[in-house]
Amino acid sequence: MKTGRAWRVGIKDFLMMSGIRQRPHLKGPNWVIILVCLVSISLIGVYLYPPRNSAACYIFFSSSCSEPENTPAVPSRELTDEENAAHVVITEILKSTPVNSNNPKVAFMFLTPGRLPFEMLWDKFFQGHDGRFTVYVHASREQPAHTSPHFIGRNIRSDKVDWGKISMVDAERRLLMNALQDPDNQQFVLLSDSCVPLHHFDFVYNYLIFTNVSFIDCYDDPGPHGGGRYSEHMLPEVEYKDFRKGSQWFTMTRRHALLIMADSLYYKKFRLYCRPGMEGKNCYADEHYFPTLLHMVDPNGIANWSVTYVDWSERKWHPRSYKPPDITSKLLRNITGYEVSLHFTSDEKKTVLKTPCIWNGMQRPCFLFARKFYPETLDNLMQLFSNSTAF
Ligand SMILES: *[C@@H]1O[C@H](CO)[C@@H](O)[C@H](O)[C@H]1NC(C)=O
Ligand SMILES: *[C@@H]1O[C@H](CO)[C@@H](O)[C@H](O)[C@H]1NC(C)=O
Ligand SMILES: *[C@@H]1O[C@H](CO)[C@@H](O)[C@H](O)[C@H]1NC(C)=O
Ligand SMILES: *[C@@H]1O[C@H](CO)[C@@H](O)[C@H](O)[C@H]1NC(C)=O
Repeated sequence: MKTGRAWRVGIKDFLMMSGIRQRPHLKGPNWVIILVCLVSISLIGVYLYPPRNSAACYIFFSSSCSEPENTPAVPSRELTDEENAAHVVITEILKSTPVNSNNPKVAFMFLTPGRLPFEMLWDKFFQGHDGRFTVYVHASREQPAHTSPHFIGRNIRSDKVDWGKISMVDAERRLLMNALQDPDNQQFVLLSDSCVPLHHFDFVYNYLIFTNVSFIDCYDDPGPHGGGRYSEHMLPEVEYKDFRKGSQWFTMTRRHALLIMADSLYYKKFRLYCRPGMEGKNCYADEHYFPTLLHMVDPNGIANWSVTYVDWSERKWHPRSYKPPDITSKLLRNITGYEVSLHFTSDEKKTVLKTPCIWNGMQRPCFLFARKFYPETLDNLMQLFSNSTAF
């Protein structure tokens, strides 16, 4: 992620655009006739067999879709043993009361290609708080040599990560798997190599430990970069109406981390049908799997916003990336001042969805971490971090 996750979205969109351009050019009257026939056949089909699921409704705009669906969705096929097992385990995990540790810790899980440019800033952040946190590093390209004692020996066994592919989700699951082995870990924070803390440790710790929700970014984007990536192959388990989008940088409760370990059913659907090049579309599992799954099985257990700030307001192919001159106390006050999290939809309406950051009945600052920062901003950030009490 050195050249950056920032550019990843750019590449994604570029691929998508070229995908459109590469579509075969339909020429001549033969194609028109074939097309008309195909459309007629499918319209007759829809008339005779009205669609029952919302995904089909979305495509065909059938009148039968406006009727309220009161009956719960019944899987149209028999589940495999593996799938039944996933259902049973997920239900049990959600029913169980969380086990409280006497020494609750926050697990900081770093997903990086190699070096961590902000290691010294994090070192400062962790100083004096031993015993209240654990660090895990998944370095997918090269194992970084660490200088901070909080990072030395914390690289976990890693594997290659391809942006936008399921290997990204696999790396996240690998981090959770390692962090779950410490029974004191109660909240699991996923961070990238370009993330920095916005507050001192105590603030972050209290924010995350005294809550029972996962801070998972989750919203409904009806545009091509949201619902447009849905594939009907995900039926019957994942319906269009439940398909959600969100940035991958989550924090997760122990219960949800366990749930992710247990899930093979939904994971398999995303591995097979949410991938780049699926039916001519590019679906990125890391932006859809966690939000969709948790929205389906435990909607009240997630906050619907991420505590990691990223600036998409320019609506460009990549988010805003901060350079040394941008690093001022004004910028940090601006980011830490948000009490409403913004989501930008990709449809023509370009709606800005506003999620107030409320939990346990109180409106709070939304963000604990921010990205994405160029490595050269380290010195300026270190200075600010030393000077400020709030940051
Ligand atoms: C979290 O705690 C609040 C208040 O204690 C409670 O109302 C809510 O149901 C809990 N949520 C979950 C997902 O356990
Ligand atoms: C998150 O959004 C869902 C609806 O999508 C809602 O049911 C849930 O209550 C929200 N979570 C919180 C903590 O407000
Ligand atoms: C941060 O700055 C942006 C751009 O100047 C502004 O639109 C936004 O309202 C500010 N946010 C806060 C919380 O002050
Ligand atoms: C931090 O404080 C030092 C001295 O107290 C000062 O020289 C420096 O300019 C401050 N840095 C920032 C970024 O405010």
